[in-house]
Amino acid sequence: MRVLGIETSCDETGLAIYDSEQGLLSHALYSQIDLHIPYGGVVPELASRDHVRKLLPLTRQVMDEAGCEADDIDAIAYTAGPGLIGALMVGASVAQALALAWGKPSLGVHHMEGHLLAPMLEETPPAFPFVALLVSGGHTQLIEVQGIGEYQMLGESIDDAAGEAFDKSAKMMGLPYPGGPHIARMAEMGIADQYKFPRPMTNRPGLDFSFSGLKTFTLNTIDAEKANNPDGALSEQNIADIALAFQDAVVDTLVIKCKRALQQTGLKKLVIAGGVSANKALRERLEKTLTGMGGDVFYARNEFCTDNGAMIAYAGCQRLLAGQRNDLQISVRPRWPL
Ligand code: KG4
Ligand code: ZN
Repeated sequence: MRVLGIETSCDETGLAIYDSEQGLLSHALYSQIDLHIPYGGVVPELASRDHVRKLLPLTRQVMDEAGCEADDIDAIAYTAGPGLIGALMVGASVAQALALAWGKPSLGVHHMEGHLLAPMLEETPPAFPFVALLVSGGHTQLIEVQGIGEYQMLGESIDDAAGEAFDKSAKMMGLPYPGGPHIARMAEMGIADQYKFPRPMTNRPGLDFSFSGLKTFTLNTIDAEKANNPDGALSEQNIADIALAFQDAVVDTLVIKCKRALQQTGLKKLVIAGGVSANKALRERLEKTLTGMGGDVFYARNEFCTDNGAMIAYAGCQRLLAGQRNDLQISVRPRWPL
């Protein structure tokens, strides 16, 4: 089965063609980051308009790259939620219009299931069952995965997502949006242990997370440092040191909870997915931890950690192969539990 995948849940327009026998045939990604940088975050209306501009040219592009015409595509998968409602509507409308015009089935895919399955596109994909840590701008979840659609939630954030904490803390440090990669870059120049950030909710049992307190801790650290400095501003080294201390705290917290989830389930495979899984320090720490436990960590290549069309084409293909389809109604779900 050959599936065209369409992702428009936030600020990336992602298109891809996945073939169940041949693998990924083509993919294209357009990031709107430059458009949103002046506002310090994603402006939903601007995101929708940009998806409208980009969707059809990128569809043409991935079809040309894969050497496909309409007849070569068996089905269309699109992100139906969760995400920004306007942005989702654009992707769903184009997907359903193509399905109608081409006379092919379509399916709305859960964005987080896309992330969760993205490591399946790599050369050594994880075999079921495994524990998945989903860490993105909107979600922080630990899930026991027995198979496609067989997900048991083990724990999740009771407030901010890990990516959101990266983004908000970066903004306080004067770093651009999205903050995760900028904090990671600054942290490389940081001196360890200049600040001691808390590891929220690690000293009590359970697998839930809380990251909003870290944000407040960052703010207080910045204010104290500014008051210390004669010019009342943060130096580059201050920013690097705070970035490292913040990142260490998030990584430590995630590692502790992952270890706990593996012990609780008795599983030895951990999949990390979503934008924050691109973080090098997190990958390295988890690799070391899993090696110590006789287990393995799996993650997608960097470009498939953040939002992309390939993960939607892949997840959609698995469900379409199982016989799932949508009618032609255009409906999306800005909030949608996995
Ligand atoms: O999965 P994603 O692209 O979009 C959502 O579904 O939310 O995740 C975006 C999030 C942002 O918060 C961004 O700052 C974070 O992933 N991120 C990172 C890194 N790359 C992206 N966080 C930490 N380190 C990174 N290298
Ligand atoms: Zn995402």
